[in-house]
Amino acid sequence: MKSIGIESRQSSPVGLIIRQKEPVNLEMPFDQIDSYLTPTELFYIRSHFPAPKINVTDYQLRIDGAVKRPLMLSYSELRELPSETRVATLECAGNGRVFLVPQVRGAQWELGAVGNAEWTGVPLQILLERACLDDGVCEVVLEGADRGMAAEEPKPPGPISYARSLPRRKALQPEVLIAYQMNGRDLSRDHGYPLRAIVPGHYGMASVKWLTRIQAVREPFQGYWQTADYGYWDFLDGKPVRRPLAEMQLKSAIARPSVYETVLPDRTYTVFGAAWAGETVVTEIAVSTDGGQTWAEAEFLDPVRRYAWRRWKFDWHTPKQSGQHTLLARAKDANGTVQPNEHDWNFGTYVITHLLPIEVMVEDLARPEG
Ligand code: MTE
Repeated sequence: MKSIGIESRQSSPVGLIIRQKEPVNLEMPFDQIDSYLTPTELFYIRSHFPAPKINVTDYQLRIDGAVKRPLMLSYSELRELPSETRVATLECAGNGRVFLVPQVRGAQWELGAVGNAEWTGVPLQILLERACLDDGVCEVVLEGADRGMAAEEPKPPGPISYARSLPRRKALQPEVLIAYQMNGRDLSRDHGYPLRAIVPGHYGMASVKWLTRIQAVREPFQGYWQTADYGYWDFLDGKPVRRPLAEMQLKSAIARPSVYETVLPDRTYTVFGAAWAGETVVTEIAVSTDGGQTWAEAEFLDPVRRYAWRRWKFDWHTPKQSGQHTLLARAKDANGTVQPNEHDWNFGTYVITHLLPIEVMVEDLARPEG
């Protein structure tokens, strides 16, 4: 098990951890999850290319491909369609990468590339019904306006756009939104203004920002962002096949104490965290304060709500003796699945859902050891 070290961090003016300045990649300090809904200014930002400047007056969303009635919608036309507001947790598939051993390439996300927000928009289902999908459609490709050079090999030689497909079944579920608001306000540029997809239950990479085109296809889409990047190895009759990452996997993370925090001996310290799952719900959290030898049940602070995280707490009576302790949190979902002990390398540098150790020091700072 690897615990992360404390490295010097650069922060944005509002306190987000800077992982990359351009394109903008910012992480929420995870010990600051004080509210059920993550305030927009603290919500992580994950962008592969610089955010495009889009002028809404000439912006058009195109819905085409294998459909009977291709559509072009202006921003104001889209905003007049029936809308819904839903709470959904977005987690970047690389969240927690800093915990991998050996250390891997890519943004060294700690725990805060995740957030829970309220999203308002038009269900994708409504748009696809208006366009009328052909019978043979198997997927719907969502494409953003941003472009640039891909980073991971094998990569195309020239600039590409950000595009991901959704299986037809998921695209037609009522929870998938073409969103224009986040937490009651129009999307900010970094979060996808004017329009983005929100795909509850799937890792963040599915929620395409700066959406300009929705294309129905008859063959599985093999785009860069679901093969070279954001893919994983599955096995078909023992042979490895590449599949696109999709559903979020069950995960619980400790927000407080943070790594190497010093806590006082012989006190009640409230351990605090959050847990989420993809297409199911989290039903139990167990916490260990002795590196996994013993476990006790934590208490949920939020109700069950599909696609949204549940924060939890656990009152830990800290030991009388000074020393280092390893804290772990382990979630269980409605199907009886529990988080794994080890990372599954078929997911490469993504889907980091194994038990993440938080090392803390128990020490009375006011009373030096004699
Ligand atoms: N959409 C576009 N067009 N370009 C991107 O780089 N990044 C994806 C997704 N949508 C991305 C995108 C990834 S990897 C994540 S985790 C989420 O957006 C992050 O959304 P956020 O920046 O609003 O938190």
